[in-house]
Amino acid sequence: MPYAIEVKAGQEYWLCVCGKSGTGLCNGSHKSTAILPSQFRATKDQTIYVCGCTKTQNSPFCDGTHKSL
Ligand code: FES
Repeated sequence: MPYAIEVKAGQEYWLCVCGKSGTGLCNGSHKSTAILPSQFRATKDQTIYVCGCTKTQNSPFCDGTHKSL
């Protein structure tokens, strides 16, 4: 399932790509993998949906692939 994250315009975020953080935001858990987090700067206040299943084709964002797993 994706993680819904409220972001603020102009703020920078490091989004989890490895799927190990459990929140959608990088917490350093990737250090046990070869996967790096994704930098994201919000251009507006919005909700983004970060992939939690690691199967998306639009990393780091959910593309709905989790529905077919
Ligand atoms: S959580 Fe939706 S594609 Fe991974």
